[in-house]
Amino acid sequence: MTRLPLGLLAASALALLTTGAIADTIKVGVIGPFSGPFANQGRNFQAGIDAWMALNGQAVGDDEIEVVYRDLPAADPARARTLAQELVVSDGVQYLAGVYFTPDALAIAPLLEEANTPLVIFNAATSAITKQSPLIVRTSFTLPQTSAPMAAVAAERGLKRVVTVVSDYGPGADAEGAFSTAFEAKGGQIVEKIRMPLAANDFSPIMQRVRASGADALFAFLPSGPPTLAFARAYNDNGLKGAGVTFLSTGDLTQESDLPALGASVEGFLTTFHYSVAHDSPENKSFVEAAGKAIGDPKLLTFPAVGAFDGMRVIAKMIEATGGEQDAAAAVEAVKGMRFESPRGPVTIDPETRSPTQTIYLREVAKAGDGFENREIQSFADTPDLGWTK
Ligand code: PHB
Repeated sequence: MTRLPLGLLAASALALLTTGAIADTIKVGVIGPFSGPFANQGRNFQAGIDAWMALNGQAVGDDEIEVVYRDLPAADPARARTLAQELVVSDGVQYLAGVYFTPDALAIAPLLEEANTPLVIFNAATSAITKQSPLIVRTSFTLPQTSAPMAAVAAERGLKRVVTVVSDYGPGADAEGAFSTAFEAKGGQIVEKIRMPLAANDFSPIMQRVRASGADALFAFLPSGPPTLAFARAYNDNGLKGAGVTFLSTGDLTQESDLPALGASVEGFLTTFHYSVAHDSPENKSFVEAAGKAIGDPKLLTFPAVGAFDGMRVIAKMIEATGGEQDAAAAVEAVKGMRFESPRGPVTIDPETRSPTQTIYLREVAKAGDGFENREIQSFADTPDLGWTK
């Protein structure tokens, strides 16, 4: 051990005292799927958080952020509520964050006011979530926001008859509603609305129904992870492409981490979404570098990482605005209207919906190097959460 001369020790102790540089620790409790079939989505939360820290540091003023992780492998509202309660009561977190699935966010919402704790949602994307508590802010997207632009694309491309196919829960209902309303407003026809159980994993019967309907296209939403991978495969295995049924979906179905497995079978698929790993900007370049390093293999990167990265940006601003004090209402107030250049493009936290207003991109799965990417080919700037009604 090296010994410091006494005089130096005293000097550094004095410096600490006079600058008051003894940091308070502010804990952020992050709930997400860190194990099980959706584990890569949780790893992306962590990669986004680590990337934020690597690029911006762990300190906000005199305070230091400490992240406490809790694993919730699948949608499980009762467990989500217990985890949130434990984080607040036993771990003393000042912020709750993360949350992949909508039912979990809905279960946590009623706890927030009494706990004087904001919830910053990194993913869960049903529009109505932010209505359940004034202490919720979202940094991901909403399904009405990503789905309605696809109706404009379908109409522009001359598609007339579409079947919607969605998972039967909040985000699916949002996707179905927003796409159908927008497509019908443009003179299109919804031939059939198919809803599948959230846990469905055999999609052949559904593909046969779509084929039998005589539709020009299907429009789909399922939550990203193993189900989306199986769904895209079933489209190909059941010969829908050959039958002339165009595949349209939100970007959840072609997330980058699934592209190596899906390969050429999804080349040309059109999706609408808020983020592509291939987005061309300096902000995204440094984000992808930092998050790729954090996750170990850059091929595993996908959209929950950007929700988490911007979520940490929002939490840092909340800590700064409250001087580290626990004042949930003031923390949320401070980020209403916040504008920033995200790795996805420009984002504003809408003061009313507390969800991002952002560019939604039309992307096409295209060859890039020895793999595939979601190539942005058209953009819908300043798209708000279109699901919000008073
Ligand atoms: C949700 O449950 O809100 C959810 C999950 C995964 C997605 C989109 C939405 O890809």
